[in-house]
Formats: sequence, C-alpha cells, structure tokens
Amino acid sequence: MKRFKLLWVLASVLIIASMALAACTQAVDEPVVDEPPAASDELAVGIVLPTKDEPRWIQDETRFKDALTAQGYAVEILFSQGDPAKEKQNVETLISKGIKVLIICPHDGTAAAAAAEAARAAGVKVVSYDRLILDTEAVDYYVTFDSVAVGEAQAQYLVDKASGTGLPLYLYAGAASDNNAFLFFEGAWNVLQPKIADGTFVIKNSSEAVALQDKAELTRDEMGKIIGQITTNWDFNVAKNLAEANLTAAAAEDKGDVFVLAPNDGTARSIADTFAADPDVTSYLVTGQDAEKASVQYIIDGKQSMTVLKDVRTLVGDAIAAAVKFLDGQTPEQTNTYFNNVIEVPAKPSEVVSVDKDNVKAAIIDSGYYEAGEFTGLE
Ligand code: BGC
Repeated sequence: MKRFKLLWVLASVLIIASMALAACTQAVDEPVVDEPPAASDELAVGIVLPTKDEPRWIQDETRFKDALTAQGYAVEILFSQGDPAKEKQNVETLISKGIKVLIICPHDGTAAAAAAEAARAAGVKVVSYDRLILDTEAVDYYVTFDSVAVGEAQAQYLVDKASGTGLPLYLYAGAASDNNAFLFFEGAWNVLQPKIADGTFVIKNSSEAVALQDKAELTRDEMGKIIGQITTNWDFNVAKNLAEANLTAAAAEDKGDVFVLAPNDGTARSIADTFAADPDVTSYLVTGQDAEKASVQYIIDGKQSMTVLKDVRTLVGDAIAAAVKFLDGQTPEQTNTYFNNVIEVPAKPSEVVSVDKDNVKAAIIDSGYYEAGEFTGLE
C-alpha cells in the first residue's frame, strides 16, 4: 500500500514536471515580437534625490520627469528623506535593477561615500548631482552650479543696498554635512568680508565670524566654526528658532534696518517672517536661492529681497547628457574639477542668475521658468 502511494506521488511529480517543460519549450518557441526595447532599457539610469520635504528637490524631480518624458526615456527617481541609510538602500535597489549610471544628490556628502562605492563595485558610473560626494574615489563626474558664485550673488545684493556704516548684519548658513554650504559661505565671505573690515557692516549673531572678520580667506575649519554657530541645517524650523534666538539676544540698537544673509529660499522665508515680526526691526533685506515658487511670490510681495535662480533645467540636461556619454563609453564635457578630499572630480559648473523684484518677471516668467498664472501681483 505504502509502495503504491510512493509510486503515485512519483508519477504525479513526473507529469507536472513534463507539463512545465512543455510550457517552457513552447514559450521559447513562440515567435519573438519585434518590439523596440523599452525606453528604460536604453537609458539604464537611476536617480536618488535627498528629500521630498524641500521644494527645491521637487523642482528637480519635476524637471527630470519633463526632460526624460520629452526624450522618451523612463528612469526611476527615489528619495532618501534625509537619511543616509535609506539613501544607500535606494542605491542598492537601483543597482539590483541593473542601472548603468547613478545620478545621486547626497543628503550627507561623506556618508554617501559608501553608497557611491557600492555602485562603483557593481560597475555603475556615479554622477554626483548638485552636491559633491566626499571622501571617496568612487565619483565619476559632478554636475553642479557655480556655488561660490551663488554666495557671491547673495552678498553682492546686500552690499549694493548698503550705505553708511555700522549696518547690522545677520549671517545664516546651510547644513555642515553639505559641501555646498561651505561653497556658498565662501562666496558670501569673499564679498562681505571687505565690507565688514571697512565698517560698513557689523556682524550681530556670530562671535566666531567676528573673531575671523579681518581674514579675507578662511580655511575650511574656520568656516566650519562659523557655520557651527549659524547653521540652519537646511531646515525651516531650525532657521526660525535660530533667528528668534538671535533677535532675543540682540539689543534694540542691533536691529533697525538690518541685512540678512540667508542661505536658501526655504530658510529665507522662515527667517524673513521672524525678522518681520520683531517690532525693533524697522526694515530687513534678506537673500535666498533656488527660485522656489513660494519665494518668487515673497519677492513679488516684498517679503523676501532676492533669490538666486539656478535653472534646474540646465542641471537636469547636464546630468542626462553625462549619463548618455557614459552609456556610450565616452567621457562627459569637463571645464573644472572639484576636490572631494580624495580626488579631483571632473565637472562643468553652470551659471546662476541674481533675481529681485526688478527682474523677477524677465528672469522667471519671460524665461519660461514658471508661468505668470502661478503668481499674484505680478506687474
Ligand atoms: C542646494 C540648494 C538647496 C540646499 C538645501 C544645497 O545643496 O544646492 O539649492 O537649497 O541644498 O536643500
């Protein structure tokens, strides 16, 4: 009886196996439909962006989608939500899907080295996008704006509006984990420092900056000390709390008509609202960057003084062009290099445009960056 059962089981297994084999053979024998390869096979590219919580990176996502759809490509865009572990996981997911080029904007430049190295080990070309990946050889190319020029444009705006001496200056910076925060600050310092040294401006919210105010060029460590006191961590709430703390600590005579270096649009709006709410602040000028829609509206409304337009369409175009070159076994165009503490990374930085109320229509609307209908009060 037992033997019969065993035979029966064996026979069933054989029948099922032969059916499966037949199905496979049939699948192999079926005529191959001559379809062009899916677009995603042609551009084997994965994109990793730092966070959905800041409009800047939503801009990049949108512009990537627009450009790739227009060119008939499909790619996957993943967000790391400010978490290097999630970022590494995103990269691993994309590697397992067979990408050949990784376009990645790191949340934390140093922490992202491990993700870049994992990609390199899998034979994937690594394009550092907007922010430089630090402390590793595993970066093949860097697409970026001229970030020193961004800081210089912000500072130049304040200098151009300054007259007299002893003008109160409040300084704010980005996150120390982002190499760009140093480049922006370096650019701003290039332009502001001579105007601090000659007495035009007086720094009100950083003892470290005051201690270094006679030095035209700062080392990274020196900048690190200042940034440690004035960092917003690229976070709107941190920016608001810091501005509030600074204004609480400052005497009424340290306020009046104030000049504020804010590192980007998101933090600029928080800082602007905080300064606007202080009764001892008579007027304020505040910088920004990114041309976020909310800040364009703030500029039209006179609540933020300027922004720096970094045309994301250009950066996206450069990133896609670099990816296509790599896929073709070629090297992308290079005009500069950026040192990431280990290697000189080839790059081709793009220009930036300073935007205030006077040229907001020409720079933002007439250029086709955004549509007029997205704003109110445009002249
Ligand atoms: C980018 C800025 C952005 C900031 C905060 C920087 O690395 O270059 O455009 O505002 O990060 O996300």
